[in-house]
Amino acid sequence: MAVKTVLVTGGAGYIGSHTVLQLLLGGYKVVVVDNLDNSSETAIKRVKELAGKSKSNISFYKLDLRDRAALEKVFSSKKFDAVIHFAGLKAVGESVHKPLVYYDNNLIGTIILFEVMAAHGCKKLVFSSSATVYGWPKEVPCTEEFPLSAANPYGRTKLIIEEICRDIYNAESEWKIILLRYFNPVGAHPSGSIGEDPRGIPNNLMPFVQQVAVGRLPTLKVFGTDYKTRDGTGIRDYIHVVDLADGHIAALNKLDDPNIGCEVYNLGTGKGTSVLEMVKAFEQASEKKIPLVMVGRRPGDAEIVYASTGKAAKELNWKAKYGIDEMCRDQWNWASKNPYGYGSAENSSKKR
Ligand code: NAD
Ligand code: UD1
Repeated sequence: MAVKTVLVTGGAGYIGSHTVLQLLLGGYKVVVVDNLDNSSETAIKRVKELAGKSKSNISFYKLDLRDRAALEKVFSSKKFDAVIHFAGLKAVGESVHKPLVYYDNNLIGTIILFEVMAAHGCKKLVFSSSATVYGWPKEVPCTEEFPLSAANPYGRTKLIIEEICRDIYNAESEWKIILLRYFNPVGAHPSGSIGEDPRGIPNNLMPFVQQVAVGRLPTLKVFGTDYKTRDGTGIRDYIHVVDLADGHIAALNKLDDPNIGCEVYNLGTGKGTSVLEMVKAFEQASEKKIPLVMVGRRPGDAEIVYASTGKAAKELNWKAKYGIDEMCRDQWNWASKNPYGYGSAENSSKKR
């Protein structure tokens, strides 16, 4: 079978870098485009090191998706079999304060990407959507047919891009599009060489826990202890980032199915874990105590969210392999080897 070449937008980022590595190890050629707004070129360097003899199968271009001319140049230089589109801004709180920045970056960037893809006859796409589109689900597990909503501008960009994808396919049926709704990606590659490296104070639970463990932050605030859950704290479906990365390979394979149009799949484990359970698992993995402060609920947070995994298992032939102990083990391995992520203590608080 001919070697496939995949364009990965946002491939220097957290999920992107893990996916690029799995692609290289799986025999794909990969071209990464990223403006490094929320990432570091060191991630690409480390991916190359981990890829061994496949390291020559990756090239990297530092560019912004909204720079149409630069993107055109990349598409003119190579023929892509498919695009995996990770690039976007993802901080929910920031999106509430700077909605136009989010609409500009996420929507305009995506529209330009789709236009350039179409102009070059590349109509196969895997897009990073999010479980955020389920809002506060009335019941769990969340199936792909659940009603969709958006509680903030970030979530709205996901919802709008999903709708754009459905419209594109309805207009031109040669497009093949897979929308992947990720639940809560955590952990890191087992090597400890690549992982999540958020700028500024982390918004998400596990990056925050990790920074408490390495002494960068004093305490973890637990947002809400009065939910109707087994211990009162919120429940989520945490998924190991390597499992998530493998889900993208499964999605790429599915794009070869002649019957695929525009399809959506959840990528989760189907298991719910509370904040306190996650903290306990991390404490065991790291042998560090995480001091807690119980505070009120975070606005916009749902009570219980976890995935129905049946559709991905049946149609993508993909299932998550790792549990929370492995997620915490690998998160700690990354954190202890890289307490300041890809950077140093001096520039760790750099903000956009
Ligand atoms: P990330 O910030 O680590 O990676 C995104 C990458 O895109 C970064 O490297 C950033 O520099 C790049 N980027 C942003 N805007 C760009 C632009 N205009 N042009 C070029 N590059 C640009 O985030 P991640 O956690 O790896 O998430 C990847 C995707 O998955 C995002 O679309 C995110 O919304 C989505 N997602 C993430 C989560 C999560 O919890 N991490 C959950 C659901 C969905
Ligand atoms: C958040 C976003 C969601 C996004 C997802 C993945 C909000 C309201 N939602 O979801 O849109 O798709 O991240 O990027 O921001 N928690 C604490 N203390 C903390 C941080 C989190 O107790 O310092 C709790 C939360 O209340 C929640 C759980 O930990 O119960 C997980 O939080 P988080 O990692 O932010 O993910 P989501 O809330 O699922």
